[in-house]
Amino acid sequence: MLSLSAADEVQALYKHAYEVKKQYVGTTVYFRGLIELSNVCTKNCYYCGIRSGNPLVERYAIGKEEVLAEAAWCFEQRYGSIVLQAGERSNATWTEFVTELIAGIKELSQGQLGITLSLGEQTEDVYRRWFEAGAHRYLLRIETSNPTLYKMLHPADHSYEARVQCLRTLKKLGFQTGTGVMIGLPGQSVEDLADDILFFYDEDIDMLGMGPFIPHKDTPLGYLVASYDPEQAVETGLKMIAVCRIALKDVNIASTTALQALKPSGREMGLLAGANIIMPNITDTRFRRGYQLYEGKPGLDENALTSRQSLEKSILSIGETIGYGQWGDSQHFRNRG
Ligand code: 5AD
Ligand code: SF4
Repeated sequence: MLSLSAADEVQALYKHAYEVKKQYVGTTVYFRGLIELSNVCTKNCYYCGIRSGNPLVERYAIGKEEVLAEAAWCFEQRYGSIVLQAGERSNATWTEFVTELIAGIKELSQGQLGITLSLGEQTEDVYRRWFEAGAHRYLLRIETSNPTLYKMLHPADHSYEARVQCLRTLKKLGFQTGTGVMIGLPGQSVEDLADDILFFYDEDIDMLGMGPFIPHKDTPLGYLVASYDPEQAVETGLKMIAVCRIALKDVNIASTTALQALKPSGREMGLLAGANIIMPNITDTRFRRGYQLYEGKPGLDENALTSRQSLEKSILSIGETIGYGQWGDSQHFRNRG
């Protein structure tokens, strides 16, 4: 399915995936308001624009009161959940800061806002503290399930095995656990993508966030900018979403910003290919320029309210509804008990 290329066959694939989505998770889209807490990162992944080795990035960190104000806004907008994302950092001050944010968000929403974390690899103790503070979902992309390819895309001290172990720890602690890969990485074959799906299956993953790889000029993979084909990247990204829906059925699948970066209607196309989650960026526009993982990231100067209104309109126009005020937990998580 991943190697289909004839236009009518690709359309048939999306259509079938949509039927599977309807049957297993329905056509309600859940919003997760995304707050990009900080672009400070101790890691140095070769593909990423905010890698520690990129001196051209101006680093920022949003303060506690501002994060809580953004979360309160999300709550007023009746978003069911928020996602706290940042570059990877592991130290006691950071752990404590995040713990306070989780507690603060739970308090301001009387426990009603669901909290997803996307804060990289941490020790079991840190994950446990955050879980006990009230976070209940965690996203940690494996990036690629091919260990050889993983090595080629990361410095020697970034470990594939440690990352898999983190996913298992998160599940053991009771988190709804999400992972995902970048689609269209240099050196990645269609068989690798098929193996990624088997990895999601074997690890019994609840949620998926995947998007096309988009080269960033100020990274070691910047040489790929010249030959990059956005049309192709969108199509491969959508096919991966569709095949994941068909194969994994009841997981939550996000239609990611990277799709929208390549095509203005990319996220809606993702919904039609089988995704059921959207993560609108609600980070204050003052900070957005700093969080450029890849080039052409959309919505740099679009405020959270206008982007919500246009998103709402386009979702209704494809015949779907929005699950305001609901957590929209992964059916797969419920089914695995
Ligand atoms: N293109 C697409 N996605 C990227 N990410 C990082 N760099 C890029 C890029 N150049 C993704 C990674 C990471 C997530 C937060 O952003 O998959 O897990
Ligand atoms: Fe840091 Fe994540 Fe970027 Fe890697 S992909 S450099 S861990 S922000």
